[in-house]
Amino acid sequence: MIVAPSILAADFGRLAEEIAKAEHGGAGVVHVDVMDGHFVPNITLGPPVVKSLRKATSLPLDCHLMIENADRYVDAFADAGANWISVHVEAMPHLQRTIAHLRGRGVRPGVVLNPATPLSTLDEILPEVDYVLVMSVNPGFGGQAFLPQSLDKIRRLRRTIGERGLKAQIEVDGGVDRGNVKALQQAGAEIFVVGSAIFGTGDPEAAVRSLLEAGA
Ligand code: DX5
Ligand code: ZN
Repeated sequence: MIVAPSILAADFGRLAEEIAKAEHGGAGVVHVDVMDGHFVPNITLGPPVVKSLRKATSLPLDCHLMIENADRYVDAFADAGANWISVHVEAMPHLQRTIAHLRGRGVRPGVVLNPATPLSTLDEILPEVDYVLVMSVNPGFGGQAFLPQSLDKIRRLRRTIGERGLKAQIEVDGGVDRGNVKALQQAGAEIFVVGSAIFGTGDPEAAVRSLLEAGA
């Protein structure tokens, strides 16, 4: 089980400190939400911030791109030090090319599905990705309520990956907390993105520890 703190919920003026606390609690990767105000109705950060984060932590940086024209920007994120990059199937007309390009750059490639996007959109690409990020909220904001139908979606995805003998990991993002992490794990998720339930608590280190305990 990997806990991936989403810095969207952290204090942007003290990112290094906030990440260090989560890392002490046992966080495995840092989840970086990139939003462009077009694909999603919110704006966050770009490659210069990723570059600074790269110097601030030794944890892998998991960049979740919620942007249009991602092909235009993936190299900038890779150059900035992103270790994992995921793109939304809804936003990528040439997804196979993008995924192959990321792998060629030495980045772990992932694909993301919005809540209403069916698993069938992954049929052809699943063998080529390292992970699938299942959104359990509609992307754009932290602190939204978990959509319970995500559990069944994760269960079905886990079954498909097993039946096809593939290796893709399942990551879940949105409304994840101590109360649903065990059920998500039993459904087949392995990487848990958590924003508010870590950085909204006042004690990120204890919050990560408590999530790891809840999933154990
Ligand atoms: C939502 C982002 C999430 C978000 C999760 O668009 O992709 O990563 O930060 O935040 P919480 O855990 O607060 O739902
Ligand atoms: Zn995210």
